[in-house]
Parts: sequence; C-alpha cells; structure tokens
Amino acid sequence: MKDSLGRSINYLRISVTDLCNLRCQYCMPQSGITKKKHEEMLTIEEMLELAGIFVSMGINKIRLTGGEPLLKKGILALTESIALLNGLKDFSLTTNGVLLKDNAEALKKAGLHRVNISLDTLNPEKYKYITRGGDLANVLEGMKQAMRVGLEPVKINVVLIGGFNDNEIADFAELTKEGFEVRFIELMPVGEATQWSLNQFIPNTTVLERIDLKSVKSNDYSSPARYYEIAGAKGRIGLINPMTCKFCQSCNRIRITSDGKLKTCLHSNHEVDLKKALRENGDVKGLIQKTILQKPEAHLLENKEYLEKNMNQIGG
Ligand code: 5AD
Ligand code: SF4
Repeated sequence: MKDSLGRSINYLRISVTDLCNLRCQYCMPQSGITKKKHEEMLTIEEMLELAGIFVSMGINKIRLTGGEPLLKKGILALTESIALLNGLKDFSLTTNGVLLKDNAEALKKAGLHRVNISLDTLNPEKYKYITRGGDLANVLEGMKQAMRVGLEPVKINVVLIGGFNDNEIADFAELTKEGFEVRFIELMPVGEATQWSLNQFIPNTTVLERIDLKSVKSNDYSSPARYYEIAGAKGRIGLINPMTCKFCQSCNRIRITSDGKLKTCLHSNHEVDLKKALRENGDVKGLIQKTILQKPEAHLLENKEYLEKNMNQIGG
C-alpha cells in the first residue's frame, strides 16, 4: 500500500485497550479515564477481522499496544489468530511489563515474535512516582522472563524526561550488556501532558554527550531509530528522535484505536471510523485506501498543532 507521497505503508499498530494498570505522568490523566461502554470498543473478533483485511492489503508488520494490552480479555486468542495471518513478517507487542512474567511464555507459544517494554527509570522510588504507583520489581522480572522464553530482541523503551531520568542514561546503556536493546525516545507533547512535556523536554543528543557510543548500521529500515553500541554490549542502543529529527518522510505506519478509529498520523486529530463501516457492512477496504491517501506529509508540532487525546488511547 502506498500513500499519496509514495510512502509504503506496511506497519499497523492496534491499540487493543485504553485501560492500564499504571498511570504514567505523560500518558494518563491522574484521575484515570472514564471506562468507555463495551459496545464502543472493538471486539476481539473485529480486531482480528481488521487485522486480516490490513494484511490482505499489504501490511506485514503488526504491533499490539494499549493502554496495557495484557489487560485485554482474549489477548492470547487474538495473538494466536493474528500470528497465523498469511503474509505477516513481524509481530510484536508493547507492554509496561507489569504482567509480563506470567504471560511471556503463553505469548511466545501463541506465536508472538517479540516485545517492547516501556521503562523510564531503574530506581524503584522514581518508578513509583512516574507511573503513579507501579512496582519496578514486577517489570524487571517480566524483562528477564521475556528474554528467557525468546521474545527477542527484547527492547526497552525509555522516554527521556529532563531532570528525571537523564542521570540514568549510563545505567540503561548497561542493560545492553545483558542482551536487551535499549531505545531512548524523545518526550513528545501529547494530550493533557502537552505543557509539562514541552517544559521537561531534552533532546536525544544528550545520550550521545553522556556515554561513549559507536554508531552501527541498521538492518531494519522500517524502524525510525538510529543505532549505536557501547563496548562489550550484546544489544544495541537506539535513539528515536521524533522532535529533533522528524522521520515523517519515511513513516510507514498507521494505527487503529481501541474504539476502532483509523489514524494515519500519531499527532493528527483526524481519524476515520472503521468500526462503524465494519458493523454496517460498508466498504472497509475502500475506506482504508481512501484514508491512507490522506495521510499527512508530516506532524506540525513545531506549529503547536498537538494531539488532543491522551497517549493511552493510541498506544504510541
Ligand atoms: N513521548 C514519547 N514517548 C511516549 N510514549 C508514550 N507517551 C509518550 C510521549 N509523550 C511511549 C511509551 C511506550 C511507547 C509506546 O510510547 O513509553 O514505550
Ligand atoms: Fe500505561 Fe503505558 Fe500509559 Fe504508562 S505509558 S500509563 S504503562 S499505557
């Protein structure tokens, strides 16, 4: 599938739930969210049907996200069915890792290839603060278990927050010696957290200043990360710079929200209701094709055009 600028669209992210067992400061409002009505959300069957349609149209890479996807009832069955779709080359899931220890083996058996784990600090007290109550020990165990069962490469997503975790860059880099891939992500202004995110933004060049990194070639052209290594490491360090170095010109991704809306740009408020089309027996493929042709050329964060929704509804 190509968009109107010739970008090849082959990567679909499906947010399977907007609920989460944490309340990360940049993602969720402190008060939590109002639980949407059951009928407003896609069912597992509808998610599978949509995934099948997208794969038949040329999507070959799928990621399940949330909220926290491991909270979704039926996630293992969904994983198992998606894994069987013909033409899928890469199948992953992004999780906060809290429930991973008990689910990693079943996910691997269901056919999931790999996981990304969101973790912004290695200090238990700071973890409790940034997630508003989370227990770091669960995540550390989940990371190990993911590695043990072979959901590899196990990638750790670290959102850099000025004055919060920029003193932990070297500690995170050390994790690559154990075989984890560590990806530093620039904090993006999104939803209710827009203002403080702008205030606490630090560029990913900070990572290059703090630790000694050797640049390595990427073999994955669909990833927006630039890759590096520290001496003696088994895993790579990725820098993902949505703010200081836009990668929109090579963007290959689209997203489905847990209530069935198709989004062709993370930072755009434009969305199209696929759930409605599906339930009314409409021309879902036609609608997808038309929407992809409207994919914006680039985000307009520098013009202060921000996403109104919170991140938990979209899944990053
Ligand atoms: N800026 C950067 N990354 C974010 N994520 C969530 N919100 C933001 C934000 N405002 C990350 C999560 C997760 C991934 C899906 O996106 O930490 O790892
Ligand atoms: Fe949950 Fe992830 Fe949002 Fe944190 S960032 S509240 S773990 S969905």
